[in-house]
Amino acid sequence: MTQPTDETRITSVLQEERVFDPPARFSEAVGGARVRSLEEYRALHRRSLDDLPGFWAEEARELEWFKPWDEVLQGDLPEPKWFVGARTNLCHNAVDRHVAAGHGDEVAIVWEGEPTPDGAPEVRRLTYAELQRETARLASALTTLGVVKGDVVTIYMGMVPELAVALLACARLGAAHSVIFGGFAAQAIADRVEDAGSKLVITCDGGWRRGQVIRLKDTVDEATRLTARIEKVVVVRRTGQEVAWDAARDVWWHDVVPQGDPDFPCAPMDAEDMLFLLYTSGSTGKPKGILHTTAGYMTFVHATCKYVFELRPDAGQLYWCTADIGWVTGHSYVLYGPLLRRVPTLMYEGAPNAPAEDRWWDIVERHRVTHLYTAPTAIRALRGWGDQHVKKHDLSSLALLGTVGEPINPEAWIWYHEVVGGGRCPIVDTWWQTETGGHMITPLPGATPTVPGSCTLPFFGVDAAIVNERGEEMPPNTGGLLAIRRPWPGMLRGIHGDRPRFLKTYFGRIPGMYFAGDGARRDARGYFWIMGRVDDVINVAGHRLGTMEIESALVSHPAVAEAAVVGMPHELKGTGIAAFVSLKRGFDAGAALRSQLVQHVAHEIGALAKPDQVRFTTSLPKTRSGKIMRRLLRDIAAGKEVTQDTTTLEDYGVLAKLREHEEE
Ligand code: WTA
Repeated sequence: MTQPTDETRITSVLQEERVFDPPARFSEAVGGARVRSLEEYRALHRRSLDDLPGFWAEEARELEWFKPWDEVLQGDLPEPKWFVGARTNLCHNAVDRHVAAGHGDEVAIVWEGEPTPDGAPEVRRLTYAELQRETARLASALTTLGVVKGDVVTIYMGMVPELAVALLACARLGAAHSVIFGGFAAQAIADRVEDAGSKLVITCDGGWRRGQVIRLKDTVDEATRLTARIEKVVVVRRTGQEVAWDAARDVWWHDVVPQGDPDFPCAPMDAEDMLFLLYTSGSTGKPKGILHTTAGYMTFVHATCKYVFELRPDAGQLYWCTADIGWVTGHSYVLYGPLLRRVPTLMYEGAPNAPAEDRWWDIVERHRVTHLYTAPTAIRALRGWGDQHVKKHDLSSLALLGTVGEPINPEAWIWYHEVVGGGRCPIVDTWWQTETGGHMITPLPGATPTVPGSCTLPFFGVDAAIVNERGEEMPPNTGGLLAIRRPWPGMLRGIHGDRPRFLKTYFGRIPGMYFAGDGARRDARGYFWIMGRVDDVINVAGHRLGTMEIESALVSHPAVAEAAVVGMPHELKGTGIAAFVSLKRGFDAGAALRSQLVQHVAHEIGALAKPDQVRFTTSLPKTRSGKIMRRLLRDIAAGKEVTQDTTTLEDYGVLAKLREHEEE
């Protein structure tokens, strides 16, 4: 590398030595692992790269196509096309296909609500036949409300079954969905609606979270005042509280969906037709609409569920991914993947500590969950609440554990393995991104020996490497940029409405390769170790946020002159948010303003973006060329001794002033 990136400093990643072989009994537990040794994995991986189209054609043949493809792969990075000329539909493959094959009465979704009024939680089970009928009715109702193929439907809901129906109905009729996580604020909804040109929003009156009602409809109402684009709002009644009503704009789900046509067909979609947009944070203040298309995404998500989770129908599996559908993990691995594999997927509405800190383990025991997929931030929190909550429950149904979203610290890994998995469940630490659509670097549970903290080896057809800015591969154990050198079917096809930004962000840094934004290294056995983002993106409690977005929110407050936001180590969240703020003349730094600023960020973006620390300073440290010295701020936020060379500081005094404020 020409210049070390900030994160290469953290290469001191623990030299983890413990190796866990795939448990011998694992294959039985899931009905036989597909890939049973590292040698077999390596041979298959090599074969998949030698013949990418051949490998992916074989995977795609397991799904149904209205019209077969003329060509599996056309072109190359940055803008390849997959399954050219084919026609298919994701809802058909996830739902209708199973009904047609005689599985209509099998459970597709097991849903558990948060409230437990008399100790018994509300549970709903949806079969494939019910899902088919409900998605058809909703697709038909949306059509009546003016939605046509190619439109973008915005979805802002809690984790209720209707959310799953909403995404599938969009796929059914050929409208793209743009799901916004229920923790985002009105301004964030309005920005995304504007960018997507979306006219219809599906929401709920409210959602349950730790016994409180999150007023989702109110937030959508506020968004309709910030953008004129929203013409129709479909509202699911969940919590039953009073909501404001605009009769010209709002319709109840229960008024329009039952009127819909239960036989509304699945639209034949071109392989490269847009399937969804999902807004995610990047290095600039403006979130980008990551665009995924139909056939490649479907094939990729199906294949990863098959090999990485060993999801297999008729094997008595019950799969639970704890992510919210508002994030990509929820799209690919709560909803689409398991349904494509015909394995029942569990959706839980609420928080892990409501009504008590053993809620998740209670769910695992009652439903006999076989697969649990969650994030390190959750694992750390659950561990912190104590083993007694876990030990109270019979978790013997668990066969496989997964983690995603940020590097997992070995202590959390070991706890997950020993206490939750009883030492018998393999852990798949899956590295991937909103942009990749599905798993990219991950162990295969029957084949790959695991090392706590490493996501191990690339998935089939994935050519991952650690390179420098010129694209040259780095020697083992040397930090570099994580890049992907060949196209894969699940990759993003663009940033909505901004091709130059797409090309620049992902393909502008390393010639000819996809740059993921992460720094990483490979160890001597070829295993990948993710070191974290090398751009201005931070992963806070598994949620991806742009520091610039938070800075923009802070600067929009009348008291703020300038703001710089950096990540800082945080025991539970992994990364916390530290904000350095200089004030305009006439405003007093103090506790009152500090909490006002925190609330302001929550109002502008959502509670998930609240800074953990706000430090006032008279000015921000900058280089002579005027760039904020983020590395220095990161060190200060982390409470580290600032050892680095600060001679480029414009004002040496700034550093001293920042340090003084620590005493507050
Ligand atoms: C991080 C979530 C280490 C990484 C699916 C990536 C991980 C960002 C892992 C994408 C992992 C995800 N180990 N880091 N197993 N998985 N990340 O788009 O920094 O919300 O770039 O997608 O999460 O976050 P996103």
